[in-house]
Amino acid sequence: RERKRKEGVNLLELSASFFRERLKMPEGQGARDYLARRGLSPEVQQAFGIGYAPDDWETLKRHLGERGITEAVQVEYGLLVHREDSGRTYDRFRDRVMFPIRDIRGRTIAFGGRVLGDAKPKYLNSPETPVFHKGRELYGLYEARQAEARLERLVIVEGYMDVVALAQFGIRNAVATLGTSTSEEHLSRLFRLVGEVVFCFDGDRAGRQAATRALQTVLPQMIDGRQARFLFLPEGEDPDTLVRREGAEAFQDRITCASPLSEFLFEQAAEGRDLERIEERERYASQVLAAIGRLPEGVLKSLLLTELSRRTGVDPSSFEALMAKEDAAVP
Ligand code: UTP
Ligand code: MN
Ligand code: MN
Ligand code: MN
Ligand code: MN
Repeated sequence: RERKRKEGVNLLELSASFFRERLKMPEGQGARDYLARRGLSPEVQQAFGIGYAPDDWETLKRHLGERGITEAVQVEYGLLVHREDSGRTYDRFRDRVMFPIRDIRGRTIAFGGRVLGDAKPKYLNSPETPVFHKGRELYGLYEARQAEARLERLVIVEGYMDVVALAQFGIRNAVATLGTSTSEEHLSRLFRLVGEVVFCFDGDRAGRQAATRALQTVLPQMIDGRQARFLFLPEGEDPDTLVRREGAEAFQDRITCASPLSEFLFEQAAEGRDLERIEERERYASQVLAAIGRLPEGVLKSLLLTELSRRTGVDPSSFEALMAKEDAAVP
């Protein structure tokens, strides 16, 4: 099992250097122009090991084959696609800017590849493999730990470009989930490293929905002493576009001023409701209560219950009784 893991990591490292080499060659011109248009400095490209997958069906396959890596292993680690119908195999990543995804120790475990134009899909990621599990890995975590000796806070963003652009502007503590929503496993890993996470999704519908889901996911992780905050970007912006428009200092200020979980929780439940009306206040209270019910026992939970009672005028003991009843009702 361990031998197999080594073989996989070796093949992934070979591929990462292959992509980096290709970016420097004449065929990498289009990708170099693209990265320059996106404003990525050579330094940050190097820090993140960015490369280019050539516009060809089997260059990587041949390159790896010459180094003794069988096609079966290339398929297993997601670099080669095997078509069941024709039996043919071909390189998964073609004509894309390549972002190596590294584990916490810096070993390449997967790739994300972006098209140079606007073909679909915009980003192609490695599939699940023996060493890559999307629900667990975070892009940029290794690089953040390399850059900051004492990490206190991590900022969770949506995309590769967001992580890299922020790093270029000196904000080196951003990580991205990989085309999946933030999982409890992501969060428990992050909270083992830092006391505070800040969610910073795109200023669009998908981003706001991601924040709502992230709130639900983070609640069970909120043991006392941990902090979660939510940063909402102006409509149409993502961290990459915004840090370029506003600069690092303004973006850092936004991070510092992000809403604490408690505020977001109440704001979200109040959204679109007229709290002067009893029935709407009742729904507001149930929604907040359901969220509070997901919190582990602790000071935060008590404080939020007290606050809910202050905001609704309902005695805290009624809420406690209600919560106890719901716990009992869970089969
Ligand atoms: P976005 O759709 O916000 O990317 O997806 P973007 O900001 O427009 O991308 P750029 O700036 O033009 O390069 C955010 C993230 O969701 C994942 C990727 O991780 C991406 O960075 N994603 C998006 C995919 O995995 N596949 C896709 O086709 C699109
Ligand atoms: Mn595994
Ligand atoms: Mn988006
Ligand atoms: Mn973007
Ligand atoms: Mn985006």
